[in-house]
Amino acid sequence: MVRDGVLVIGSANMDLVVFVEKFPQPGETIFGKKIEMFPGGKGANQAVCCAKLGAKTFFVGKMGNDDFRKRLTSNMENEGVIIDHLFIDENESTGTALITVDGKGENEIVVISGSNMKLSQEDIKSKKEIFKNVKVVITQLEIPTEAVLETAKAANENGNIFILNPAPAQELPEKLLSMVDYLTPNETELELLSGLCVKDLKSIELASEVLLKKGVKNVIVTLGEKGAYLINKKRKEIFPANKVNVIDSTGAGDAFNGALAFALSKGEEPGKAIKFANSVASYSVTKMGAQSSIPVPDELTAK
Ligand code: ATP
Ligand code: RIB
Repeated sequence: MVRDGVLVIGSANMDLVVFVEKFPQPGETIFGKKIEMFPGGKGANQAVCCAKLGAKTFFVGKMGNDDFRKRLTSNMENEGVIIDHLFIDENESTGTALITVDGKGENEIVVISGSNMKLSQEDIKSKKEIFKNVKVVITQLEIPTEAVLETAKAANENGNIFILNPAPAQELPEKLLSMVDYLTPNETELELLSGLCVKDLKSIELASEVLLKKGVKNVIVTLGEKGAYLINKKRKEIFPANKVNVIDSTGAGDAFNGALAFALSKGEEPGKAIKFANSVASYSVTKMGAQSSIPVPDELTAK
């Protein structure tokens, strides 16, 4: 059987987004332009991205028994994500993110994890069957590290391509890094994981090499408007992003990761997969919201 499809294991949050001209200083009160609610969370964003692009996509995560769960799951289902394997925690609220977006499209985010941090190692173990049916498994760091480790183990045992998006930034055990096929830090995450200061291409290369030495097979550093950098034992290459008018960069990293997972699940080689991920992520920053800003294939070709 030819395997394709993607399993996304991770968080789901309701994003409460305030749009302002300039971020307030500590202690300052300002007037915002508007407030909106968008489905978000790194795991759910990446799952919706894969599904919108056309992959058979399974999502495993944990939500609360509340109204945010109903809204988030209804959006995920509408976008084509298979959510049959979702866990519900009766005692915790669904994750929430308080996001401020400024006039340049930059953001500041506070995440209240709620049920996301209740996803356990046992929960992942109970979903081992799904790993056999997909080609790519992707996860992030808005769920407990034990769940991430169990995901990595299961992905390796089942011969999946395993992508770890190490966001938000946190230190990781070497055991985990050695199980990663594609690690996709941004520059802040790269600094924290390597322990080296990142300021230019040379320092990005040196910091990425630290991670290759720890057993990561490919490092893809996302560089915002500059695109992305791929490094493995045989190759070092920069892939530029498209020049666009930025409205809201929330979820750009998720659009990149979701599109990368999609392309790898279709058998693309890493370079082509990154070019595609750049085009999807560049498109996403031109629209508001995380999941709402991800293009379907027709929108990408119509550009
Ligand atoms: P976020 O936390 O906002 O989701 P991130 O820090 O994880 O993002 P970035 O490196 O900022 O990730 O962006 C991910 C990808 O999105 C980039 O590699 C690029 O393809 C695209 N991108 C981000 N910002 C821009 C921009 N200003 N113009 C064009 N493409 C962009
Ligand atoms: O990566 C963007 C996401 O980070 C937002 O949707 C928010 O929920 C936080 O998890």
